[in-house]
Amino acid sequence: MSKSPQIPYTPPVFSEEDALSIAQWELYTARSRRSIREFAATPVPCGLIEAALRIACTAPSGANRQPWRFVVITDPETKHRLRLAAEEEEREFYEHRATPEWLEALAPIGTDWQKPFLDTAPYLIVVFRVNSEPDGDGFKKNYYVPESVGIAVGFLISALNHFGLCTLTHTPAPMGFLNEICGRPTNEKPFVVLPVGYPVEDYTVPDLPRKPFEEMVLWK
Ligand SMILES: Cc1cc2nc3c(=O)[nH]c(=O)nc-3n(C[C@H](O)[C@H](O)[C@H](O)COP(=O)(O)O)c2cc1C
Repeated sequence: MSKSPQIPYTPPVFSEEDALSIAQWELYTARSRRSIREFAATPVPCGLIEAALRIACTAPSGANRQPWRFVVITDPETKHRLRLAAEEEEREFYEHRATPEWLEALAPIGTDWQKPFLDTAPYLIVVFRVNSEPDGDGFKKNYYVPESVGIAVGFLISALNHFGLCTLTHTPAPMGFLNEICGRPTNEKPFVVLPVGYPVEDYTVPDLPRKPFEEMVLWK
């Protein structure tokens, strides 16, 4: 039995026709999402970023610990510091650390160590996973942290896409430098960097196949 007081819960109710029509729209929106690596200088309304982050913060989480922290960067100097630090790691990765197999997997995507989008995207959202939190004199452990943060980031990416914004799931490795740049303590571990904005004009993306639905989804 729950130890919390109970409150009424009323989920939104739709007719079957409305639900199917919403489903079609959602599917269309999801299919239109692509990762973007060249951002226009077009300003992004701050309200959209805030709404997307509020949606991300509603995600379910292990033991309801909400073990995420989002740091929103717009300051050009901070973005540039982040770019330089990320490029240093990425250069090392592409030139030394990456296995030939990994580079082969990345080849169709066409990425390299250079990350100009970290300067040009109007917003950088740096996501941290909070492994443990200050609690009295010590720390209390959080549970299912990567799973919870991954779900929250999924909510965030989906919300941004719904608002007509584009992003990239960027994971410079290792990402330890993000703690210093974002001023976050060591109990928070960098999870992902999401540059957010609109693509440059006439932008193209690699024609990447998605696996057949039937291979990914099994009905029993
Ligand atoms: C966990 C994760 C890490 C990723 N890291 C990078 C990255 O560091 N740099 C990059 O350019 N793309 C990165 N991507 C983006 C993928 O390359 C991209 O999602 C994939 O190629 C499919 O393309 P789409 O997002 O346009 O559908 C990452 C995606 C995920 C989910």
